[in-house]
Amino acid sequence: MKLASVTAETPAVKSFVFSDELCSKAEPGQFVMVWIPGVDEVPMSLSVLNSRRGQAAVTVERVGEATEALHRMKTGDTVGVRGPFGNSYTVANARRVMIVGGGTGLASLAPLVEKLTKGRTEITFLMGAKTRGNLLFHARIGGVLSRAKGRLVVTTEDGSFGLRGVVTTSAERLLKQGEKVNMIYTCGPEKMMQKMFLLAERFHVPFEASLERFMRCAIGLCGTCVIGRYRVCQDGPIFSGKQLLEVRDEFGCWRRGFDGRKTKV
Ligand SMILES: Cc1cc2nc3c(=O)[nH]c(=O)nc-3n(C[C@H](O)[C@H](O)[C@H](O)COP(=O)(O)OP(=O)(O)OC[C@H]3O[C@@H](n4cnc5c(N)ncnc54)[C@H](O)[C@@H]3O)c2cc1C
Ligand code: FES
Repeated sequence: MKLASVTAETPAVKSFVFSDELCSKAEPGQFVMVWIPGVDEVPMSLSVLNSRRGQAAVTVERVGEATEALHRMKTGDTVGVRGPFGNSYTVANARRVMIVGGGTGLASLAPLVEKLTKGRTEITFLMGAKTRGNLLFHARIGGVLSRAKGRLVVTTEDGSFGLRGVVTTSAERLLKQGEKVNMIYTCGPEKMMQKMFLLAERFHVPFEASLERFMRCAIGLCGTCVIGRYRVCQDGPIFSGKQLLEVRDEFGCWRRGFDGRKTKV
């Protein structure tokens, strides 16, 4: 694919738009493998699904070799894209939902909120970041929610915007105050998602989280991405609270590296 545009979202995050009919029709939560020629191939959630224009995008944080190489690329440069892969968020029975996102987790949650607001779902969206400058898709998600009468609660760890603290504290406060929701969706750092999973269990709310594991094939063959009896690339990346209960000794605790050894999350 030739990159149709490259946009800086925050100091460490850029979005890369490309034209592809299949990816533009993917469901919120699905991902692609992005190949940076001569460097590596890495999994990325689809952050824009524009089927009208036949375009899609990935939104990438610069963390290591492959993502740094991608960040150096410009409009017109070529990358490889395999996919879309994996399952998607369940939206069928979503009436009143809480969505909790942090960091680049917002990449897969932005298309979800856009899909939900086309229906009649009532949404409380809790967005977290370290600082104001790290907030991802604040204007995009805020705009969609305001048109759909949804609620946006922003939390920053340094208090530079919205409430001071971590996003899970805001979620816990709302649930304790009696916020009635029939689904919680989350994507972000795994410790954050683990906390949300425990809250969903405590308040008996159905739950879905988008998991990350190392990936090589993305089609269920190599086993690099295993968690318990599941392969994140095929059985996920979206997992229900019921499935996460089965793998609670791993989820939020450890994952396997490329050499198969366990490392702490
Ligand atoms: C389904 C899925 C969706 C993802 N969506 C996004 C997204 O939308 N935006 C985004 O910025 N990141 C996303 N990631 C994480 C992204 O794949 C890694 O940040 C990227 O692979 C790092 O590559 P690197 O060479 O730059 O860093 P490296 O130097 O290789 O590693 C830096 C860190 O990235 C993680 N990582 C490295 N390779 C992989 C891999 N193949 N699979 C999973 N994690 C890895 C490790 O935790 C490592 O500590 C997603 C991961 C998965 C599994
Ligand atoms: S990445 Fe190979 S089985 Fe999932």
